[in-house]
Amino acid sequence: VTKVKIALIGHGGHSKVICEILLSSPCNEITGWFDDKFECENRTQGIHYGPIGAIPSFIDAQPNVKFIIAIGNNYNRKAISERLGLGLDHYTTAIHPSAIISPSAIIGSGTVVMPYAVINAHSEIGEHAIINTCSVIEHDNKIEAYSHISPNATLTGNVHIEEGAHIGASATVIPQKRVGAWSKVGAGATVIHDIPDNCTAVGTPARIKIKDSIGGGNV
Ligand SMILES: CC(C)(COP(=O)(O)OP(=O)(O)OC[C@H]1O[C@@H](n2cnc3c(N)ncnc32)[C@H](O)[C@@H]1OP(=O)(O)O)[C@@H](O)C(=O)NCCC(=O)NCCS
Repeated sequence: VTKVKIALIGHGGHSKVICEILLSSPCNEITGWFDDKFECENRTQGIHYGPIGAIPSFIDAQPNVKFIIAIGNNYNRKAISERLGLGLDHYTTAIHPSAIISPSAIIGSGTVVMPYAVINAHSEIGEHAIINTCSVIEHDNKIEAYSHISPNATLTGNVHIEEGAHIGASATVIPQKRVGAWSKVGAGATVIHDIPDNCTAVGTPARIKIKDSIGGGNV
């Protein structure tokens, strides 16, 4: 059986979790791992390690390889994706076998779905998103690229999470609400009103605590 060759980008804690998810399928094989902390290229136990700048020559050597950007910070994940400029067909998804995903849900390239996550009917997840452990994405959600739904978060029906938004652990968003692009919802918050772009909202009910919070923060 020919295995799917996959290379990870990013070599921190988040990437170890993604590596294990990928290897939970016997069809996958990790053939590359790239991070700028590797100054030189080297090959150890069949895996090619190197800086991110070495990726184009790696693709020349392994044209069928698929990538996952295994970086937890939404902002950095987008920056790396833009720096590489690879088409979406170069990315794969990493979906843990215990996740329950509706056949009518759509999962974008580069997106990771962690153990015991549930994604219900007609929900649409964009590219390079993180659907973390035990999170619940109810029906008809729209979750845009580079967002992160943290462990145990609950998005009820028809919720819209815009690009790069981060929903903290155990937060809840009630039906039909929107969390704006690059906004953060604190751990344990309950979102009952739309949250604009680039804000940090915390508490129950969630109130805006910080405006223009793009990039930084305790994610
Ligand atoms: C909301 C959050 C992003 C804010 O981080 P930050 O921008 O570094 O902000 P600070 O820690 O300076 O907190 C700002 C204020 O919000 C309050 N606050 C922060 N997080 C809060 C939370 N989850 N619930 C209630 N209040 C919170 C702080 O007490 C502080 O209040 P003060 O100004 O009255 O003292 C962060 O605290 C958080 O909850 N992150 C979620 C982390 C998570 O779930 N990660 C999952 C990884 S898998």
